[in-house]
Amino acid sequence: MKITIIGSGYVGLVSGICLAKIGHEVVCVDKLADKIFKLELGEIPIFEPNLKELLKEVVDAKRISFSTSLQEAIEACDVVFIAVGTPQGEDGSADLSYVFDAVKQIAQFSKNRKLIITKSTVPAGTGFEIKKLVKKINPNVEFLVASNPEFLREGSAIYDFMNPDRIVIGIEDEKSEEILREIYGYFGQEKIVVSDIITAELIKYAANSFLASKITFINEMANLCEKLGADVKKLAFAIGLDERIGGKFLNVGPGFGGSCFPKDILAILNIAKENGVDLSVIEAAKNSNDKRKVEMAQRAIDVLGGNVEGKKIALLGLAFKGNTDDIRYSPAIVIAKELLKKGAIVNAHDFEAIENSRLELEGFSNITFFEDYLQAILECDLIVIATEWKEYGKIDLEEVKKLTKSRKILDLRNLLDEKKVENAGFEYFYIGGKLV
Ligand code: UGA
Repeated sequence: MKITIIGSGYVGLVSGICLAKIGHEVVCVDKLADKIFKLELGEIPIFEPNLKELLKEVVDAKRISFSTSLQEAIEACDVVFIAVGTPQGEDGSADLSYVFDAVKQIAQFSKNRKLIITKSTVPAGTGFEIKKLVKKINPNVEFLVASNPEFLREGSAIYDFMNPDRIVIGIEDEKSEEILREIYGYFGQEKIVVSDIITAELIKYAANSFLASKITFINEMANLCEKLGADVKKLAFAIGLDERIGGKFLNVGPGFGGSCFPKDILAILNIAKENGVDLSVIEAAKNSNDKRKVEMAQRAIDVLGGNVEGKKIALLGLAFKGNTDDIRYSPAIVIAKELLKKGAIVNAHDFEAIENSRLELEGFSNITFFEDYLQAILECDLIVIATEWKEYGKIDLEEVKKLTKSRKILDLRNLLDEKKVENAGFEYFYIGGKLV
């Protein structure tokens, strides 16, 4: 099938490359000429494991191309996916201006029937708005509209796309269903969940809100475990064995971040408010998570006796999670800012997110960025692990011992083994562990 994807950001690019991998002919469009230029050279503008290799494979197979010309790409295709950003507006609602800009151009340039599919996360009801808009701009062409939300995660995007738990398609006519079933037939028809458009749009927000609430739940359980001397790892494992609960997304940490959960939670709260519906569980998860990030910085301060003025803290991890360079709503960034405000000297390390963090933290003078985490640790008073890069879980403690004057580790991702750390002579603080 000939597919055009508008927007070569995270979702658009990964989807485009994976759709080409499963046999479709894809054109990825973006208005940023520089991005398209790089993609044509085989360079990936985001950090995502294995994406570069897969891009090469589909370019060699001549199944993908890149363009800044929306008109040409629209004229040549049967199906258009919209995968542009839907950033947070001032009031927390999703800003749909990029989506509607794309829709206007699709309407303007289409000469024959097109199926327009939204992959961007859009508020329930957007499909209806799109239909109205295309009809108004170009009443002579038949437009089909569908929703196909994406569930891939940064850092494991290809795996998630190629191994979907389900593929949600929101449609309102048989032809759209038939086309979408053909596009995704590779994964097996039984994976496809068909609904109306508004339900599909809402499924995405519900899934992200549920997962964010699940993480918040286990983080609050960790707080209780700490007070009672109970073991949150065991607790999470045991409740997760109940199939009704499930063991995934029960990893405790410094709170969820990223470009999706925080934004989508605000957007669904906004939708609920507009419709006079109380989503108090989601609201509580949001508030608890916001508070948690600041509390994590306080933990570091407590470990150092209540005052970090002039103390050197090695902050391992800046990205909102491992395997990404993304620092949006990252708990690590909140922690860095809090510690710097309190007078600490921060030696920060990340495997991919240093460049982004430099910009975000440029107003602070007492932070230094290190490419090698052993250099960041040198002579520090405390090591804080803030991001779940798996490499931090394999730290050579004997080597670390030679480098630090003080032997304190605050592990906010529970990556290390308590016994090993303590046997190596460190004082170990972790989530759900003993309180300071
Ligand atoms: C999330 C969803 O998981 C995807 O299904 C969805 O497609 C995506 O948002 C989106 O809407 O585009 P993502 O933001 O890439 O994906 O990252 P996650 O792996 O979900 O992690 C989100 C945050 O939760 C991170 O800060 C992570 O460290 C934290 N987390 C995750 C935990 O603290 N504990 C866990 O057990 C899992």
